[in-house]
Amino acid sequence: MSKIQLILLNYSRLIVTLLIGFTIISSCSSTRNAHHSTVVSNKGLKDYYQSYFPIGVAVSPHALYSDESGLIKLNFNSLTPENDMKMETIHPKELVYNWKTADAIVAYAQQNNMKVRGHTLIWHNQVPDWIFKDAKTGKQVSKEVLLQRIKEHITQVVNHFKGKVYAWDVVNEAISDNPKEFYRNSKYFEICREEFIFKAFQWAHEADPNAVLFYNDYNEISATKRAKIITLINKLKASRIPINAVGLQSHWAVDQPSKEQLEATLNDFSKLGLKLQITELDISVYPKEHQAREKREEDFDTSFSAAKEEKQMEQFKMCFGLFRKYKEYISGVSFWNISDRQSWLDNFPVQNRKDYPLLFDRNLVHKKAYWEVVKF
Ligand code: GLA
Repeated sequence: MSKIQLILLNYSRLIVTLLIGFTIISSCSSTRNAHHSTVVSNKGLKDYYQSYFPIGVAVSPHALYSDESGLIKLNFNSLTPENDMKMETIHPKELVYNWKTADAIVAYAQQNNMKVRGHTLIWHNQVPDWIFKDAKTGKQVSKEVLLQRIKEHITQVVNHFKGKVYAWDVVNEAISDNPKEFYRNSKYFEICREEFIFKAFQWAHEADPNAVLFYNDYNEISATKRAKIITLINKLKASRIPINAVGLQSHWAVDQPSKEQLEATLNDFSKLGLKLQITELDISVYPKEHQAREKREEDFDTSFSAAKEEKQMEQFKMCFGLFRKYKEYISGVSFWNISDRQSWLDNFPVQNRKDYPLLFDRNLVHKKAYWEVVKF
């Protein structure tokens, strides 16, 4: 036997041995899977919804390195920084940008193959006062100065995350809840009227032409408010402003929306020819209230009773049924917070009233509602 023949023989022996070994190992593991339900627990929300839309969650950087991390990685393929890209955090002073915590969220998303939604460039809340004031006189700035500052903010922030953040909530909550007013009476509006909205989209697009640009708002299920949001979007489109999508925050409750209301909402928005996303989903176990108020006697029973659990389960089931029905238009569904351990609803509309608005309980265990959401 020549030297070459000997080498070839040894190689084929090695390959046969490896193949036999591999077959034994894989048959063992499939037997294991057949006997136990490991397959089910290895699947997360994002896997059930793989052929529908990405499933996202709003996070703090702290959560990513806590015991919630496993749950985040298993269930979600999109992240929204809960607070770390808001202007008060990321741009607290005129010449100071704080990238650290937002960068940490983006890095985690990249390591784990997740998308990132940027939230939010222009919002009347969690905004530092400096942007509206002249540093020397303390007086309110002119429209020209404010627009220039908005431009600078948007350009810096969008540019910093270019190629890493695929979508931006460019303007958040600019429409009024008051049926008699169109725009919200914010400092931005007081100084610039509607121009700040139009310009914000233009500047975001200039900074990253590939980013998907959203107008994001709440109480989109109200026919009156929805009509105003749609009017604004049509106005932006008619002015050739680069808006690509509408964010429906979806801070809902066990008593609303009704199925008819949600269907009408999705149907109306789907006609705009823009993508839709459910951007901040949570379903409070208490009847919906829009205004903060004092605690009353009936607020003291904060147990997650069987009745609350049942109602919430039905509501989640109904919502996701309709999200699936409108999958052609919906490009993402994101939850606002991870589990019932912590939610902004624990303090709104009533301070210190525990709520349970999500699909995982305080021990990070799937709630009954979770199983209804993935049953289809
Ligand atoms: C709004 C904002 C979010 C968040 C929630 C709840 O919906 O868009 O950033 O602050 O309120 O707190």
